[in-house]
Amino acid sequence: MTLKAIAASFPQPSDADLNMNDIAFWIDNKDHLQLFQGMVSIRQIYDAAIRETITKLEILNSEFQARYDHNPIHHITSRLKTPRSMLRKLKERDCELSIASAINNLTDIAGVRVVCCYLDDVYRVAELLLRQGDISLIQRKDYIKNPKENGYRSLHLVISLPVFLAESAERVPVEIQIRTEAMDFWASLEHQLRYKNDHTIDPDVHDELLACSFAVRELDEKMQSLHDKIMRSRREEDSSVSYKVSLNNNTGTTAIAT
Ligand code: GTP
Ligand code: MG
Repeated sequence: MTLKAIAASFPQPSDADLNMNDIAFWIDNKDHLQLFQGMVSIRQIYDAAIRETITKLEILNSEFQARYDHNPIHHITSRLKTPRSMLRKLKERDCELSIASAINNLTDIAGVRVVCCYLDDVYRVAELLLRQGDISLIQRKDYIKNPKENGYRSLHLVISLPVFLAESAERVPVEIQIRTEAMDFWASLEHQLRYKNDHTIDPDVHDELLACSFAVRELDEKMQSLHDKIMRSRREEDSSVSYKVSLNNNTGTTAIAT
C-alpha cells in the first residue's frame, strides 16, 4: 500500500491537515512507514476525545446561559497533531520513535482551545469541567497567575477522559488551553510574529509585546468589572421586581380566582 493510499484510507475530516508536503516528507522517510500508519490510526481515538471534550464544553455553556443568562465561552477551536509534528516532538525530546512512546510522552496530540468572554469565566469553565466524574486532571499550568517571561497568559490543563470504542474504553489525554478573547488576540499575534521571523523575537519586539501583555491584562480586568457591575444592577432590578410582586400579593391587590 502506498503512503498516499494509507493516508487516504483514513478519510477523517480531521485528516485534512495531512497535506501533500506531509506525505512527501514520509515518502522521504521510508524507515518510518509503520510509525506513520500507527500514528494515523491513533489519531482517530484522539479525534474522538476532542469531540467529546467539545460536547462537554458546549453543554456547560448552554446550561450556564439558561441559568445565568450569560455564555462564559465565546468560541472553541481544536487541533489534532499531525504524524509529522508528533515525530518532530518525539525527536526534540529524545524519546523513542514508536507509537507506544507517542502515546506515553505526548499529552498534546489532542488540543482544544477555549476562548472565554471574561477573566472569571476562564476559571469557572475549568472548575465546572474538572468537577465531572469521568474527567481526571493530569497537569495544570496557570500562565494567567504566573505569566511566561514573554507575557504569554492562558490556563493550560491536561485532562484525560474515557473514549468508548467498539471493544474497549480507553482513557485519552487532551490538552485544553483556556483564555480570554484579549489573551487569545495577544497569543495569536505573538505566534504570527515569531513564525514570520524564523521562530525568534527581536529584543525590542519582545519588550513591546510584554507591554502589550500588560495592556491586555488591564483591559481584561476593566471588562470584568464592567460585566460585574452590569450583572449586579440586573440582579438588583430582578429582585426589586419580585419584591413588588410579593408586596402586591400580601396586600391582596392581585386577585386570584378560587
Ligand atoms: P510544548 O512543547 O510547546 O507543548 O510546551 P510544553 O509542553 O512545555 O507546554 P506549554 O504548556 O508551555 O505550552 C503548550 C502550548 O501553549 C504551545 O504549544 C502553544 O500552543 C501555547 N504556548 C505556550 N507558550 C506560548 C507562547 O509564548 N506564545 C504563544 N503564542 N503560545 C504559547
Ligand atoms: Mg505541550
